[in-house]
Amino acid sequence: MNERVIEFLKKKEGYVSGDTIAQRLGISRQALWKHIQELKELGYDIVAVPHLGYRLESIPDRLFPFEIKSDLNTKFIGKKIHYYESVPSTMDVAMELGIKGAPEGTVVFAETQTKGKGRLGRIWFSPKYKGIYLSLILRPKFAPEKTPLLTLLSAVSICEAVKECLGLDAQIKWPNDILIQHKKAAGILTELNAEMDEVNFVIIGIGINVNNDKKSLISTAISLKEAKGEAVCRPALLQEILRKIEANYSALEHKGPKMIIDKWREYGITLGRRVKVYSHREHIEGEAVNIDMDGGLLIRKDSGITVKVMAGDVVHCR
Ligand code: BTN
Repeated sequence: MNERVIEFLKKKEGYVSGDTIAQRLGISRQALWKHIQELKELGYDIVAVPHLGYRLESIPDRLFPFEIKSDLNTKFIGKKIHYYESVPSTMDVAMELGIKGAPEGTVVFAETQTKGKGRLGRIWFSPKYKGIYLSLILRPKFAPEKTPLLTLLSAVSICEAVKECLGLDAQIKWPNDILIQHKKAAGILTELNAEMDEVNFVIIGIGINVNNDKKSLISTAISLKEAKGEAVCRPALLQEILRKIEANYSALEHKGPKMIIDKWREYGITLGRRVKVYSHREHIEGEAVNIDMDGGLLIRKDSGITVKVMAGDVVHCR
């Protein structure tokens, strides 16, 4: 019911009497008052003036599931949302849900993580209310080797959403670092639960530095707030990312990987560069010449031999 009260108040510009709200929602004045108190506790700024009624002044910068679901307009992503103030890692929650059979499109997000996981065993710094920390469960019908495509797809979706919501140009460093002004703004961690030749589910973990202050970030990182020069509305950005992932995922399913790879090329800044990759305990150095249809990076070594890497840490040499 809290959701319906908020939806109602959002549609009204000025004050609306308690009687009108209670009548429209089919509840008593007393029940309405209780809902208003609960909403205030959640951070909704609702002003009450005698004889005039209630007015919604502002909504809190929180990723409440009902706020994210409203106007989301997706078919399956975000239909089920698990929201936490704090968890060790949204990846672990999503993994448990996936094992229990959670449907495709289930999302887990948290306002902070106490043990946020980055790639290659690193820690993902997850300060409260500053970032977006989400894990999405997908159940693609393709072979496990193709899952790196989902990482690329997610990276492209983040760039598209950042451009659309904020007008900022983001780039992708292979495979999945999102850079703005050459500094890292977001990262993606993909975990797979699979049999030999079949994917059970994939978890796409996305961490974005949204409203972090410059001084709280290391020198190689940037937040969207810093890049934009003003605070960013996290719920709107999160919604757009979910919409873009769904649209790109459907395109991948129906039209194959070419469109995703082509889009990735638009945002990617690794191709054509000399790179060093540390992959499977091996250093590979050469020119990044292309990206394969399964998302692998093709590197031409100085010997002239071209090798493909599917995962690893890339350093752009020049
Ligand atoms: C990277 O190292 O670039 C990947 C970072 C991924 C961080 C996200 S935040 C949400 C999800 N939960 C985690 O513990 N990690 C991912």
